[in-house]
Amino acid sequence: MACVCRALCIYLILAHATAASSAAVNNISVYWGQNADEGSLEKACGTGRYAMVIMAFLSVFGSGQTPALNFAGHCDPSAGGCAGLRDHIIACQSMGVKVLLSLGGGRGSYGFSSSSDAKGVATYLWDTFLGGSGDTSLRPFGEAVLDGIDLAIASNSSQSHYDDLAHNLTSLYNGDKSGRYLLTAAPWCLYPDASLGPALTTGLFDHVWVQFYNNPSCQYNPRNESILRSAWDQWAQALPSANYGGITLWSRYYDEASGYSVKLTGKADPPSGSLIPGGSGNAPPRKKMIIIYIVAGTSGLFGVCVILLTILLWYKKRHGMMPWHRGSRNVPRLESFLQRQETSHPKRYTYSQVKRMTKSFAHELGRGGYGSVFRGNTPDGREVAVKMLKDTDGDGEEFMNEVASISRTSHVNIVTLLGFCLQGSKRALVYEYMPNGSLDRYTFGNNSEGDQNLSWDMLFDIVVGIARGLEYLHNGCNTPIVHFDIKPQNILLDQDFSPKISDFGLAKLCRQKQSKISIAGMRGTVGYIAPEVFNRSYGAVSSKSDVYGYGMVVLEMVGARKQIDVSTDSSSKYFPQWLYENLDQFCGATTCEINSGTTELVRKMIIVGLWCIQFRPTDRPSMSKVLDMLESNTVDLQMPPN
Ligand SMILES: *[C@@H]1O[C@H](CO)[C@@H](O)[C@H](O)[C@H]1NC(C)=O
Repeated sequence: MACVCRALCIYLILAHATAASSAAVNNISVYWGQNADEGSLEKACGTGRYAMVIMAFLSVFGSGQTPALNFAGHCDPSAGGCAGLRDHIIACQSMGVKVLLSLGGGRGSYGFSSSSDAKGVATYLWDTFLGGSGDTSLRPFGEAVLDGIDLAIASNSSQSHYDDLAHNLTSLYNGDKSGRYLLTAAPWCLYPDASLGPALTTGLFDHVWVQFYNNPSCQYNPRNESILRSAWDQWAQALPSANYGGITLWSRYYDEASGYSVKLTGKADPPSGSLIPGGSGNAPPRKKMIIIYIVAGTSGLFGVCVILLTILLWYKKRHGMMPWHRGSRNVPRLESFLQRQETSHPKRYTYSQVKRMTKSFAHELGRGGYGSVFRGNTPDGREVAVKMLKDTDGDGEEFMNEVASISRTSHVNIVTLLGFCLQGSKRALVYEYMPNGSLDRYTFGNNSEGDQNLSWDMLFDIVVGIARGLEYLHNGCNTPIVHFDIKPQNILLDQDFSPKISDFGLAKLCRQKQSKISIAGMRGTVGYIAPEVFNRSYGAVSSKSDVYGYGMVVLEMVGARKQIDVSTDSSSKYFPQWLYENLDQFCGATTCEINSGTTELVRKMIIVGLWCIQFRPTDRPSMSKVLDMLESNTVDLQMPPN
């Protein structure tokens, strides 16, 4: 969930609380706990800008696992190091701020195996965080009693029984006379949510804050606001009792960096033309109209951005539709907000600028089914690679969506998109320049440019780097980004041979063409496309399809480094199959030139590679698992079944 984002993002809340009218106008909630630089919990509450602070996350629970908290660098829960939060929670509550605990997050390990598993977790939550158990010594925050539970469940796998959790937790809530406990959820914007869908329809949730970001098919897009509108309508219709809203921010860190809630609450320096409708809170809630607040990425300096946020104030159930459909005076207001949100990253260039940057396309770096890549310099002197896309049939809309999804990422193992050009049929992407080219230069053995062989240590570091980049794409953002086209040509190497994944997000744009290229790949034998991409009956297309491509790349790297031995034998056999059957022989033959530490690395790469290319997507490990495997000892690694 710790998505780093440079485009703008919206976090919409549709809350459906029945007792709406007593809430303050400035009903802002914020997630806290995933960035050690965001300041303490108590300090967050002390700003007086938040009605609720949601501690994130309980990232391990269910399926017999020992539940575990994760508050990033704030404290170490495993060593009881988070006990100090007790005083913070109590301080927050004394300031009138509710403190919730969020379950899930992008990097956790969680899910229920059965209804009774869910029930067990409900009881655990009740006893451990909500005061159920009298024995405070068993509770990580001692005497402090939280105000409720939030579900931020990544919907990238089909996970069920959250409705059971909601039922069981609410029945525990109901057994308590104070009536203080809340149940909230933060589903992703695609409706219905794969994991929380059934739970949300129980009507047991006090607030539902829909994350209108991280998914191009439903997030805010400055060039096509109808995407957000139709997603919004879907949620509004699905939860028809929505009659009240607020604003939820991910996260406290970015809120502080952007000063967003300061502006919103008007508690400090309200900007002229403040967006706060009414402002005072005295007017009857029903008269308040909806407003969308949007924060554009403001910290591009650090390559980072604000995620998040926002939304709907006082919406009346009886309207049965969203305010912008009413043709009222609010509509122009909404339009102007939307218009303001032109992103400044990445930069948009005109075609003539692109031409100038590349000196009229003088230096071609490479060519593929998508078009050609040229070397160039931006006006401020930065070295760049400019990818000119062949004319595509789609309209510019799709291209822009892809640009938006690329620019949402920021990771050392993902290439940085600096700019783009969209002018008529001319489409270009401007990337940082990678002096060492793409991985295929090294894996295919076409090392005409001299000795391009990389050492085993370097190869291993590259393998780990790619895994980190992919893991980030799959888990680092709220919505997994599936690359669909992992292959050596798309792995670029910087001056230190650190790998950077490129062209992700363009997969959709170019998928068909590029698939053909991959299949007819240079070796003619190894395809990087997972079987389920060809034939859905083999399983659902998912991030596991990238895992397959990754596995092939890894095996390719191993094989290319050592192609001499393999070529004779594998000509008649599928290389991975050969490797599977001859692992010891391969490692043995290879090690004559290397020490035993390196053998270890090679063996590890092969085993991981083989796991990743398992035929059934469900048999393949996730990228997080892959990273675990790469970091573990070889002796602990089992050979895959097939
Ligand atoms: C827990 O949830 C299950 C499934 O929703 C339900 O059958 C059971 O009655 C619930 N138990 C309690 C105590 O609410």
